[in-house]
Amino acid sequence: MIRDQELLDQLLDTLSRFVRERLIPNEARLAEEDAVPPEILAEMKDMGLFGLSIPEEYGGLGLTMEEEALVAMEIGKTSPAFRSVFGTNNGIGAQGILIDGSDEQKAKYVPRLATGEIISSFCLTEPDSGSDAASLRTTAIRDGDHYVLNGTKRYITNGPEADLFTVMARTDPQNKGAGGISAFIVEGDTPGIHRGPADKKMGQKGAHTCDIIFDNCRVPAENIIGGREGKGFKTAMKVLDRGRLHISAVCVGVAERLVEESLRFAMERQQFGCALAEHQLVQAMLADSKTEAYAGRTMVMDAARRKDAEEDVSTLASCAKLFCAEMVGRVADRAVQIHGGAGYMAEYAVERFYRDVRLFRIYEGTTQIQQLVIARNMVREAQ
Ligand code: CAA
Repeated sequence: MIRDQELLDQLLDTLSRFVRERLIPNEARLAEEDAVPPEILAEMKDMGLFGLSIPEEYGGLGLTMEEEALVAMEIGKTSPAFRSVFGTNNGIGAQGILIDGSDEQKAKYVPRLATGEIISSFCLTEPDSGSDAASLRTTAIRDGDHYVLNGTKRYITNGPEADLFTVMARTDPQNKGAGGISAFIVEGDTPGIHRGPADKKMGQKGAHTCDIIFDNCRVPAENIIGGREGKGFKTAMKVLDRGRLHISAVCVGVAERLVEESLRFAMERQQFGCALAEHQLVQAMLADSKTEAYAGRTMVMDAARRKDAEEDVSTLASCAKLFCAEMVGRVADRAVQIHGGAGYMAEYAVERFYRDVRLFRIYEGTTQIQQLVIARNMVREAQ
């Protein structure tokens, strides 16, 4: 749903200029320094990007899913790590509070998340619990008016810088399944939280992850999301339904950038007496990438509109994530192939994107988890 086409066009225009003039020229620096330059972070805050999908009543831009998808596609046209810090913040970091939190919890935390004054992250994955999220072992045992958290969370995006964590932990150790899990809001300076060193990753340099270790960390009972035990797994799944659509939109943006890079190179580079773009085998690669990026865009926009219409889009969000994450992998592979030897060299953006896009098939649910969700829902609906 688009609420005000004129306002949205202005936002997309501003963003497109910001990507072209500020982010693309800083891509190499982002990768080299493994950090988003502080002045760029400040500009992102000023533009409201930290509160994209946070409702206006809490100080965010209050974008609908359709609007957010268009914004994510635009921001996708540069290194995905630029998006990671604010995308995680107002996406999976804040959405648990927004979807299932109480009014008091929203009023206490969300306005500061919307401006980027505080940064949040989402703590689900553990050393022994990745795709099988319901098997997580971090415990939260009630002690008077607190819960005491113990356990380790792994690969936590924004972990090194987060001021606030949404933490899924087991409040009922007898219940080893999803029903024993609750979601907590944990402030980053609570005693008993330790942060591991930043992970060294294959790509997406500038987007930081690390272990978050809870060692007898006492969290006020009022910080259980929604005030009820045993609902945390469902909160996490609802957060991921939205997150998967957002990531799919980013994949489309990256794919479109790679199509542009491939076309530009193919038109400039001369071989066998003419531009690469005139060779039919190169044309086939360009055409396949263009077609797949378009298919991804169409799919994401349809799912986003349905989400705005309050349809259950769990299946469609997984369809979009499955297709778009795999699609951008193929597009990046063709982009390197079209660039030939140059595509293997660090001075060309496609080399960096080739490494960056590999993560899309893994985080917020692997390709195989999307297949599992889609097929399970199909069977359930057919019964
Ligand atoms: N919305 C609401 N409720 C849902 C739901 C959804 N989308 N999906 C499942 N549930 C509910 C089920 O209805 C069920 O409820 P009942 O017990 O009342 O029936 C309950 O949750 C348990 O569901 P399942 O039985 O389906 O659970 P499962 O253990 O068999 O499998 C899974 C679920 C889909 C495989 C899930 O574990 C999953 O999505 N795994 C992947 C985890 C993942 O995506 N991790 C990414 C981490 S975040 C990240 O990457 C971000 C980052 O920082 C980089």
